[in-house]
Amino acid sequence: MNLGRFELDNIYNEDCYKAIKDIPDKSVDCVYIDIPYIIQSGGASDSPLSQRAKRLRNIELKDLKDGIDISIFDDLDRVMKKINIFIWCSKEQIIEILNFWANRRDKINFEILTWNKDNPTPLCNNTWLPDIEYCLYFREGGVKLNDGYEYKSKWYSSPINKRDKDKFLHPTIKPLNLVKRHLLHTTQPNDIVLDCFLGSGTTAVAAKELGRHYIGFEINKDYFKIAQDRLNGIDANGQYSLF
Ligand SMILES: C[S@@+](CC[C@H](N)C(=O)[O-])C[C@H]1O[C@@H](n2cnc3c(N)ncnc32)[C@H](O)[C@@H]1O
Repeated sequence: MNLGRFELDNIYNEDCYKAIKDIPDKSVDCVYIDIPYIIQSGGASDSPLSQRAKRLRNIELKDLKDGIDISIFDDLDRVMKKINIFIWCSKEQIIEILNFWANRRDKINFEILTWNKDNPTPLCNNTWLPDIEYCLYFREGGVKLNDGYEYKSKWYSSPINKRDKDKFLHPTIKPLNLVKRHLLHTTQPNDIVLDCFLGSGTTAVAAKELGRHYIGFEINKDYFKIAQDRLNGIDANGQYSLF
């Protein structure tokens, strides 16, 4: 099955700002994105794995400059059948995103979902712990939420994702179980899920495991390869991985 020039259940090493122009209007059931933000580089280890991760981070910093251009939101709105969108973002991006989506239609529901990390690395003095990540969710009337006590929770708690970071070498990888929970709550089998900022491909893997269709873009060729391998059950060290 195709979505414009794109094959469903496929991912593309492309710039999403251009690629999204080729996705037809009202063709996607859910958008799930984790938008870029500047990441502090550094880290203690000089193992080959950590060196590769650092190299990827540098590429990302070069690619990302300062976060995203929110003009892509107009296209995301255009391609969704009804607004049903998750946006992981930094604290600094929340106001701009709320301003865009919260009044987009007469009836928009929104939630602030969180991932609470129970073992954050302390930063310097005079700061709060970096132990919460935010995901904004917007839903237009008519988008069905599925029942299931564990999907309905607005927060998820787990340790920082070090094991997955080591396996898939992405500095901002999200917990697969959490992404699956979000999709189980807000999408139906065979729905189409779009992620324009795939990173290591967590959204695509979650959709695949849940019997949803997926399509996604990643601009960085190293991350793209990691996402592609991950969809084929191979981790970034070339080992077969159970996702
Ligand atoms: C926050 S990360 C996503 C991490 C992902 N959620 C995961 O679990 O691995 C954002 C990703 O967007 C990618 N990116 C940045 N600008 C892009 C663009 N214009 N088109 C496609 N991907 C882009 C970056 O390379 C980065 O991997």
